[in-house]
Amino acid sequence: MFTETGVDVKKAAEFLRKNELVAIPTETVYGLAGNALSETAVAKIYAAKNRPAFNPLILHVSGVDQIEQYATADPQSMQIARTLMPGPITLLLPKKFTVPDITTAGSGKVAIRVPDHPLTLELLKELDFPLAAPSANPSGYISPTTAAHVQEGLNGKIAYILDGGPANIGLESTICEVSGNQILLHRAGGVSAEALTAITGLEVVLPETKQPHAPHSPGQLKSHYAPHTPLFRGNIEQLINHYPGKKIGVISFSKSYANQPQVSSYVLSPTGNLAEAANRLFATLREVDAQAFDVILTEVFPEEGIGSAINDRLDRAQFLHK
Ligand code: TXA
Ligand code: MG
Repeated sequence: MFTETGVDVKKAAEFLRKNELVAIPTETVYGLAGNALSETAVAKIYAAKNRPAFNPLILHVSGVDQIEQYATADPQSMQIARTLMPGPITLLLPKKFTVPDITTAGSGKVAIRVPDHPLTLELLKELDFPLAAPSANPSGYISPTTAAHVQEGLNGKIAYILDGGPANIGLESTICEVSGNQILLHRAGGVSAEALTAITGLEVVLPETKQPHAPHSPGQLKSHYAPHTPLFRGNIEQLINHYPGKKIGVISFSKSYANQPQVSSYVLSPTGNLAEAANRLFATLREVDAQAFDVILTEVFPEEGIGSAINDRLDRAQFLHK
């Protein structure tokens, strides 16, 4: 299949109506979209990504008013939706029969979000069905934040890439679920736990650790977001000493390691801005992975705001989890 890249929303809509796959820009990362109500289209998404059949997909809709067609939302979830959507937040809700089982991988819950990107919102409004869209990368590899990243991983496997420029946030959405008087944080992301508490007054907690073979949110599986080059995380100065004579790529928050002889240093935000670091993380991981380093070393970021999401992705990118 020939994969075309462009900015033609009408053409993207045509492909999607024919159950073809289209990569779509969002504020978080690019998504690999298909008609969420079509078993044919959804099956193509799993195949193109080589995604395990037990890992459910997020439903993307054009507005908060669409949610009730596909899910039953409690008042607190709706409060989160009205405050944060469109934006980098995904709600996990009891699903309605309108959503095919294949889209939620058999789960009775559906994950829903309204992406904040003008082209994709225009596309969703043009269509009379929601889009199922996982990140547009082969399963397990680093998520794409540009159209070129999508092309690297999925060229020839999808019909069209809608190019909306580089992603604004650069890390996936926060996935949360209101459960009793708590919010379960299934995935850290663009919206911080602090923000969810400020909106609802509810405590944000991590869900129980999940069984590896029946994951509740398989994005929590270990070997996600991983570069091909072995990556280790910790105190960079100490780690460097473990690799005498090796070629090392270092990805750090604000401090440069360029003065170390074996090291190529990649600083995500010289001014120590976590949003900037998050925005550059995936593109930098790809860039570093493309060099012939023996090892990639990185550190623990400040555990606040989007720093938690950076730490989550880097933790799971580590070689020991492969
Ligand atoms: O920012 C994002 O959320 C991006 C953009 C494209 O919207 N999408 C994304 O999708 O990150 P994906 O498939 O790469 O990650 C979705 C995560 C997976 O970990 C999946 O297991 C979880 O959401 N998920 C989806 N539906 C679920 C469900 N019904 N129950 C539990 N977890 C679910
Ligand atoms: Mg993903």
